[in-house]
Amino acid sequence: MEFSVKSGNPEKQRTACVVVGIFEPRRLSLAAEQLDKASDGFIAALIRRGDIEGTVGQSLLLYNVPNTLCDRVLLIGCGKERDFNVNEYRKVIAKATQTLNDGGAMEAVYYLPELNIKSRDIQWKVTQAVIAAENCVYCYDETKTQKNPARRPLRKIVMSIPSRRELIQCELAIKVGQAIANGMNLAKNLGNLPGNICTPTYLAEKAISLSKEHSSVSTEIIDEAKMESLGMGALLSVSRGSREPAKLIIMKYSGATQEEKPIVFVGKGLTFDAGGISLKPAAAMDEMKYDMCGSAAVFGAMQACAELELEVNLIGVVPSSENLPDGEANKPGDIVTSMAGLTIEVLNTDAEGRLILADALTYSERFDPAVVIDLATLTGACVIALGAQAHGLLSNHNPLAHELLNAGKNIMDRAWELPLWDEYHEQLKSNFADIANIGGREAGTITAACFLSRFTKKFRWAHLDIAGTAWLSGSKKGATGKPVPL
Ligand code: BES
Ligand code: MN
Ligand code: ZN
Repeated sequence: MEFSVKSGNPEKQRTACVVVGIFEPRRLSLAAEQLDKASDGFIAALIRRGDIEGTVGQSLLLYNVPNTLCDRVLLIGCGKERDFNVNEYRKVIAKATQTLNDGGAMEAVYYLPELNIKSRDIQWKVTQAVIAAENCVYCYDETKTQKNPARRPLRKIVMSIPSRRELIQCELAIKVGQAIANGMNLAKNLGNLPGNICTPTYLAEKAISLSKEHSSVSTEIIDEAKMESLGMGALLSVSRGSREPAKLIIMKYSGATQEEKPIVFVGKGLTFDAGGISLKPAAAMDEMKYDMCGSAAVFGAMQACAELELEVNLIGVVPSSENLPDGEANKPGDIVTSMAGLTIEVLNTDAEGRLILADALTYSERFDPAVVIDLATLTGACVIALGAQAHGLLSNHNPLAHELLNAGKNIMDRAWELPLWDEYHEQLKSNFADIANIGGREAGTITAACFLSRFTKKFRWAHLDIAGTAWLSGSKKGATGKPVPL
């Protein structure tokens, strides 16, 4: 989709469709009023007949509105003006975009970013509109033979803004929204691919193509032999039960001077998690193809930063493996030695994410990072605790945690902090190794993070448990592209 911004009156727009808001009950937004004036009360008269009340989700498409230059006018219900907020705004953008994409107009001018939302500026509204519109038209069809494209897809959205003075900032806001949306689309596509296509080797190839598309990105792939020599016993123990070779994928984006310490993103890239010998139940096991969504978000974020040419240095580290039952697979009670030298008792082979992350985190020490942020679909407990609305956040550095919480609130891809107190470490004691890989039923998300924290002592670190947020189940099953915006 193509986006641009401009400033001007709605009746003067020579376009396939002008989109304006209607508040409940039957109240015209500013742009709707302008159209109404130009058309000698055409809109108000129509609304008086009761075809649209203005509740969120309503829409009404008009043709032949007098004294306008556009082919159509789309009225979009926005709810009560007093209650109009971030969520309503995103719903309104989605409704408009869906309606147009299903209909005949292939371009439109949206007068929606002009609507007031408490403490959000015009740039924010433009960026969010781009993200919401792209999210709305996303359609996965890579593995369908019957592609089902819209008959007359919406190709171009022009955002109208109230003042010309903000044009330049809003053009940047579009670029930001577009880069985020592209990153989310990449993350969604990778997440939605099945485990038999999206293997560790496939992810490694994707990383290589990312570096071919962006000269600022370079990629290095570490294979199992090299992992062996690095002493990555935890990562290799998970991969041993699989016929697909594990990969440790390193992507570097250089946007700042060499002296600038890098931000390191570590993404769990478990391309299918059957649980191993501690086999998962069959119901919904297909969803464990999504166990690489942490790595998909790392790919998406790398791409977005490269597209925006951000002045930062960024390193993506993706340990990628399958977790399957097999004669050579980890067995409960096995003890493995991590790259850090800590021995780990594998009491449950389904707690594999923390094993592969442990070695990837230790490996990250060599980059002398400013911060390390890992993203992982790590625990079912996090789905129960926070659902689909917030990532679990645990960190050994308060300022970093706060920056992430604030960034999430700002872009509307939110995290919620859980404690990483010493007391929880008790649950990870092992009679036979330095540490056990599970901590019992209680506080599962916290004990998983406690386990990771044993491998992050040398840097500032935050962990995002995205098990509840990275994909949707049920009829809307699919990857969400989160937490790329964050
Ligand atoms: N990938 C799963 C976590 C998961 C489960 C994400 C369900 C989304 C939905 C992870 O590898 C796992 O299996 N975790 C176990 C840990 C347990 C054995 C301590 C879990 O959460 O059940
Ligand atoms: Mn598992
Ligand atoms: Zn897993």
